[in-house]
Amino acid sequence: MMDDKDEVRKSVSEFYTQAVKGGSWCCGPASSGCCGSAAAPDVVAKGFAAQFAGYGADTVGLPADAVENSFGCGNPLAFSEVQPGQVVLDLGSGAGIDLLIAARKVGLSGRVIGVDMTDEMIDRARANADAAGFPNIEVRKGIIENLPVESGSVDWVISNCVINLSPEKDRVFAEIARVLKPGGRMSVSDIVVQDVPDWVRQSMALYASCVAGAVSEDEYAAGLRRAGLADVEVAERFPYDLEQVRSLIESEVPGAILGSIDTPALAAEVAEKVWSVKFHARKPLEG
Ligand SMILES: C[S@@+](CC[C@H](N)C(=O)[O-])C[C@H]1O[C@@H](n2cnc3c(N)ncnc32)[C@H](O)[C@@H]1O
Repeated sequence: MMDDKDEVRKSVSEFYTQAVKGGSWCCGPASSGCCGSAAAPDVVAKGFAAQFAGYGADTVGLPADAVENSFGCGNPLAFSEVQPGQVVLDLGSGAGIDLLIAARKVGLSGRVIGVDMTDEMIDRARANADAAGFPNIEVRKGIIENLPVESGSVDWVISNCVINLSPEKDRVFAEIARVLKPGGRMSVSDIVVQDVPDWVRQSMALYASCVAGAVSEDEYAAGLRRAGLADVEVAERFPYDLEQVRSLIESEVPGAILGSIDTPALAAEVAEKVWSVKFHARKPLEG
């Protein structure tokens, strides 16, 4: 099943369909925010989910639905140099939180494009863009391995906790390089892992929870460089401690699917081996 790329994407999409519908798959109020909904607005305001993602004041005034349905593991636009008039592309835009933050930065003279494969997420993001009054946000249906976006048309590629979910990361990295304008930049928050056990790798539930499909920081950076991107660097690193990993797994994976998995034991096994990073990279002006 993990070998069939389309099946993996289908399972991931089903997972996030349930997640955004508020089903029992995930979204416990103790969610760590990594691929998990930040749950109720008071949790978003006060809990560590939003703080951990590092949104700070960036979400003030945004539609509550977009903030409550944030499934990210960072804030890819924090401290970015996105300028008014630029074109921003968000890979796996979900319910749209980063689309909205990007739209504020580029202003009405700029454009923001989101790509996602999950209909329920696309509907949410479009509704949230309307609610926020941003006519320059467009959400397209597609997969990030084959972006429905013109080559050389984008100033910034952003993404938040999505590429770890791709079963074909090299295709995603090549697509980033293709759609960026020469000199265009990438700022991506994501999960990376180091030495997680094989049995974790085999679990679809843990895959959809952003753990089992993640690669190491070195592999990630090497993939970006192979795609032709330059100035690849880790701009930020947030390690998950044992409590955060346990809360992540328990809030993401329903008991019925966890089955016989001993969550505290699993958390102990992967703690300090899972962390969130922000990668920066740039498409060279030539070549
Ligand atoms: C963890 S959520 C993150 C959503 C959003 N970036 C955020 O921060 O709230 C992952 C999102 O990526 C989408 N996704 C996952 N794999 C994808 C793929 N291969 N192609 C397109 N969308 C994908 C899912 O449908 C889901 O909306």
